[in-house]
Amino acid sequence: MTWVEELRAREAVFRRAPSAHNTQPWLLSYAADEVRIGVDPARSLPVSDPTGRDLELGLGAFVESCLVVAADAGLAVDAVSDGPRAVRLVAVDAVYRTVFSAADLDGRRVARGSYVPGPVPQDVLADLESGLVHLPAQELAADLAAADRWMFGTRGSVDELREWLRLRPGHPRYDRDGLTDRALALSRVEARLLDAALRSLAVTCRLGVPALLAASGRGLLRGDGSVLVLTGRAEEDRVAAGRRLLRTWLVLARHGLAVHPLSQLIDCPATADRVRQRVRAGGGGEVEPLAVFRAGRPRAEPVRSARLPVGG
Ligand SMILES: Cc1cc2nc3c(=O)[nH]c(=O)nc-3n(C[C@H](O)[C@H](O)[C@H](O)COP(=O)(O)O)c2cc1C
Repeated sequence: MTWVEELRAREAVFRRAPSAHNTQPWLLSYAADEVRIGVDPARSLPVSDPTGRDLELGLGAFVESCLVVAADAGLAVDAVSDGPRAVRLVAVDAVYRTVFSAADLDGRRVARGSYVPGPVPQDVLADLESGLVHLPAQELAADLAAADRWMFGTRGSVDELREWLRLRPGHPRYDRDGLTDRALALSRVEARLLDAALRSLAVTCRLGVPALLAASGRGLLRGDGSVLVLTGRAEEDRVAAGRRLLRTWLVLARHGLAVHPLSQLIDCPATADRVRQRVRAGGGGEVEPLAVFRAGRPRAEPVRSARLPVGG
């Protein structure tokens, strides 16, 4: 078997990489001595991710996953840029140096339910790469409510979210992609209410539904938990930042901690500004917040999210 064939045989493992709304927009093209990774525009989020920030972070996370899987299999592979939002995996002399394994990728998951109280311990924070800023969750609780209201009140974003929601097990794409009721930690009743509210948002906007939907997220940051912000310099390649993001989530997972991204905090212009100020005041210097997530020990085992079948 060539290295490309060996890597291809492990595609289901590197496809466990995270992507915003679980769109999994990766296009893979296997050649004799390289693998090209591109992005399917039909699976991007042009309204909710207009600058492609999350797309590029996700691409980075995907590339890092490929390299971890290659290293785990003893294959000497590295990634090179192949133009905007395109990466090539090529053969090199040495196996990629990583502390992570295919099992780490398989075990990682986002957890949106409640967490055991308490901040991320200092020894865990010390294990993380530089470029992460720790903020006490409570400090962001009011901003999360404002960002949620903004998100649920923005028609285009809601339409896009609806496209990727799979709120009942009978949904034809329930086991393939998108965000399921279970992944969102919703009860059957909550899933039905969310479905109904989003369906008639145009009418219900006037009745304050965005505020109601936003209220459901208010409790998330109430306790003494932690929010971590991945930061980068304005000129930094966001694919490289996405590779850092995945490594961060894997370090946390090794300590038994899960993450719950709250991208709306940096999508909503008003709250994005305040997050930027907090990060800079917290010693971040002239950096930009690229990803925001709460981190902690989930009270219940998080669900395994859906993935497209390999080759399907
Ligand atoms: C760049 C990026 C941004 C994300 N933003 C959010 C977010 O704002 N809210 C959220 O609940 N999940 C967010 N996610 C998590 C994805 O929805 C999640 O990775 C996907 O559903 C697959 O689930 P898994 O990570 O548990 O495998 C984000 C993921 C990435 C890579």
